[in-house]
Formats: sequence, C-alpha cells, structure tokens
Amino acid sequence: MSQRVGTKARTIREDAERLGIDLDRLPRHIAIIMDGNGRWAQRRGLGRLLGHREGYRALRSVLLHVAELGVPYLTVYAFSAENWRRPTEEVSGLMKLIERAARDELDVMHRNNVRVRFIGRMDGLPHGLRDAILQGVETTRGNTGVTFTLAINYGGRAEIVDAVRSIVASGVPPEAIDEETIRRHLYQPDLPDPDLMIRTAGEMRWSNFLIWQSAYCELYVTDVAWPDFSKDELLEAIHTFQHRVRKFGGVPEA
Ligand code: IPE
Ligand code: IPE
Ligand code: MG
Repeated sequence: MSQRVGTKARTIREDAERLGIDLDRLPRHIAIIMDGNGRWAQRRGLGRLLGHREGYRALRSVLLHVAELGVPYLTVYAFSAENWRRPTEEVSGLMKLIERAARDELDVMHRNNVRVRFIGRMDGLPHGLRDAILQGVETTRGNTGVTFTLAINYGGRAEIVDAVRSIVASGVPPEAIDEETIRRHLYQPDLPDPDLMIRTAGEMRWSNFLIWQSAYCELYVTDVAWPDFSKDELLEAIHTFQHRVRKFGGVPEA
C-alpha cells in the first residue's frame, strides 16, 4: 500500500503535507465512532462478526497512523452501553474479539509508545476483558506517545450520571459546582475535549458518545464503512477539519 519515492517509503507525515495538511495545526484529540461493520459484512454476504474482525484490522492501522502523525489523543467507541441490546452471539463475539485484540496488540502498542486508557463502566464487562484492559493500561502507563482511549460499555449519559454520583458522594456544596467540577469527575479528567469527531458509515448522530466533551468538537461523517477506513480517509478528515472555522460562540479571528 505504501507508495515509494526513490527507494524510501513515504511517511504519513509526508503524505499529509502533500495533501496540504498543516502538521503544526493537527487536531489535538480525535474521537472516532467506528460504525458500519455489520453493513460491511452483510454487503459481502458474511456474518456480522466478520465485519467486526475487519473493523479491528482498520483500527490497528489507524492507531499506528495517528501515532506516527503525532496526534496526541485518540479515543474510539468500541462498544456502547446500548450495544448490549444486540443478539447474544454478537455481543459475546465482540467481547472475545476485543479481549483478544487487547492482548495481541499490547506488545505493538507498547513498542510504539502508546498509552492505553479506558472509559466506560468496567464492572459490566467479562472478567477476561477487564484483566486484558487493566494489563494494557498498567503496562503502558509511563508511555509518552499517543494516548489511546478505548470506550467500552461506554455511554455519555451514564458517564454524566457517574460524575454526578461521585460529586454528591464527595460532599461538594451545590453552589460550588460548576462545569470544571463536572469535568473533574468524568472517567478520564485529564483527557482534553475532542477537536474532531469522525463517524463512519454515514449516520448523522452521536449515539451517546462523549456527550459532555463534544460540545464544541467538529463532526466529520463519511459514508465509508469502518472496515474500509484507510490512511487516506484519515488524512481527508484532518484536511477537512483544518478548513473549518471554529468560533466557540464568538466571532472568527481576523
Ligand atoms: C459498529 O458497527 C461496531 C459496534 C457497534 C460494535 P455496527 O455493528 O454498528 O455496524 P452497522 O451499523 O450494523 O453496519
Ligand atoms: C455506535 O454505533 C456505537 C459504536 C460504534 C461502538 P451504533 O451502531 O451502536 O449506533 P446506532 O445504534 O446506529 O445509533
Ligand atoms: Mg451501527
């Protein structure tokens, strides 16, 4: 897949610059709703789980591209708090796939200086998956490259409920609560708000992802299904992002 200039493979940073991407203005935090695995499989007459397996391959490559580009934060929606509504075989297949992926990829992630994080309700997950995630987080704790946050059994509303519970439990008086208080009680308080949210497979909705944090992020929706999301798609999303005018309620800077 990599094109060659002379004898040397072009890096993704070189590809980005050729597309007119300003490497000094990359989004600090990219969040991805990896949707369309099921449709990708169905179109090929395959079972949905095969679509999820291809989706894992796509994620593996996107993570390495993001790391190489130098984007500091990547957060991906792997399983929502609402995805338990799916057929049991799909849910258990997904849990096994995510667990295996977490174990199999740990070495590669560690070698690439990736720091793994988790958001979601951990106690609802199978023990094996919990162990795999905790091991990933622990092993990569000291890494200084991209912070890769996995949202599993994650719901934006559930996160806000959990934040409110922990604020109340901490005994903060109501008048002392502001937006900063809520932010500090989210699952990963150090995670900056996403700048760019990518959704594959065309649906124009948030599906309960990072509800609090995405108040001002730029949304980019592509019709491409997640298993087909490539390096070029990633660069296209970043390129589009760099042409957006972010105003945060104000007027654009001169
Ligand atoms: C996204 O793909 C992956 C998960 C939700 C786990 P889908 O499985 O939602 O794919 P579609 O939307 O049915 O095509
Ligand atoms: C969002 O996709 C969840 C993940 C990508 C993990 P869904 O496929 O679950 O979203 P809806 O049901 O179309 O809103
Ligand atoms: Mg879907």
